[in-house]
Amino acid sequence: MEKKLRVGVLGATGMVGQRFISLLENHPWYEVVTVAASPRSAGRTYEEAVGDRWKMTTSMPESVKKLTVMNVNEVEAVAASVDFVFSAVDMTKDEIKAIEEAYAKTGTPVVSNNSAHRWTPDVPMVVPEINPEHFEVIEDQKKRLGTDRGFIVVKPNCSIQSYAPVLTAWKEFEPYEVVATTYQAISGAGKNFKDWPEMVENIIPYIGGEEEKSEQEPLRLWGKVENGEIVKASEPVITCQCIRVPVLNGHTAAVFVKFRKKPTKEELIDRMVSFKGLPQEMELPSAPKQFIQYLEEDNRPQVNLDVDFEKGMGISVGRLREDSVYDYKFVGLSHNTVRGAAGGAVLSAELLTAKGYIKAKE
Ligand SMILES: NC(=O)c1ccc[n+]([C@@H]2O[C@H](COP(=O)([O-])OP(=O)(O)OC[C@H]3O[C@@H](n4cnc5c(N)ncnc54)[C@H](OP(=O)(O)O)[C@@H]3O)[C@@H](O)[C@H]2O)c1
Repeated sequence: MEKKLRVGVLGATGMVGQRFISLLENHPWYEVVTVAASPRSAGRTYEEAVGDRWKMTTSMPESVKKLTVMNVNEVEAVAASVDFVFSAVDMTKDEIKAIEEAYAKTGTPVVSNNSAHRWTPDVPMVVPEINPEHFEVIEDQKKRLGTDRGFIVVKPNCSIQSYAPVLTAWKEFEPYEVVATTYQAISGAGKNFKDWPEMVENIIPYIGGEEEKSEQEPLRLWGKVENGEIVKASEPVITCQCIRVPVLNGHTAAVFVKFRKKPTKEELIDRMVSFKGLPQEMELPSAPKQFIQYLEEDNRPQVNLDVDFEKGMGISVGRLREDSVYDYKFVGLSHNTVRGAAGGAVLSAELLTAKGYIKAKE
């Protein structure tokens, strides 16, 4: 790429926003030129606005420290300064829907981490290795929004990334019934242990709205494009319990699966480790070389040992074995704020750029 694309991060001061800022440091295609947050932060330098809320283990990139934070709600001004934006604002669903559409209507592509548009029929919800063909509906969305350049693309919830890619790799064996329990990190709620001391040595068996997302969103990934809309798949049916556990980063899932065409364990491992998609074929900058790794040891995957596999963009699976009620069971692990949030969105943006959907404004 001759010249880097100019990127804005909406919600840049928050947990996911900070992850975007970190992942985009020294990105070969993108340069963060605009950071935007609530009116509380607007007008201050990024460094001042974040203050002691910096939650990354790496230090704040020098290139953003002195940027003046803009107000997310000043859409025209923010949009005029960038080629596209990543969105990680925490507002009500209706406010997020409206503001992301407002950005798209200015001719600014929006790659969003938020859930607000995940079920808007002409908004693709994409994991680049799984359903890049859903980008097709962007043309219909642009017509609806009355813009020839702007659009919204979203990524699915962090909880499904530990098992949806695995089930996709096994599609030929026709999985039809899945039971999953997720063990989710506190960073998924935008928190660390300092912000949420109640989570030390504790488990909370409730994460608002998470079970429905974990059951339904994989079906949308596996859906088809019909008449400019995405129609969700009907199988496999998934039932899920989501539990908050005292872990900083890394969502684990314990999963049971029934297949119509029961495979051998060797076949399942083979399909997982050989599974790849466009990001690997096109060698996109943030693509993990190995998307899914299989660990033979009985005590893996472990959060401490495996969450950063492929810089947090890969999925780790272990404990695959036959089950006495279901056909097989396994344990999956993914990094919730990298693959599950900002990293997944950056990879989507890279694929959109490589395919010509995102380019420099004239
Ligand atoms: N954490 C995760 O792993 C994860 C994963 C998937 C999805 N998400 C979703 O991503 C979004 C951000 O999550 P987060 O954990 O990063 O939240 P967060 O740490 O609370 O950050 C929220 C961001 O939104 C801004 N904001 C809040 N109210 C605003 C308003 N009224 N107008 C404009 N900007 C406003 C904040 O700016 P100020 O600093 O100025 O207040 C901050 O930049 C949420 O929708 C969340 O559900 C999070």
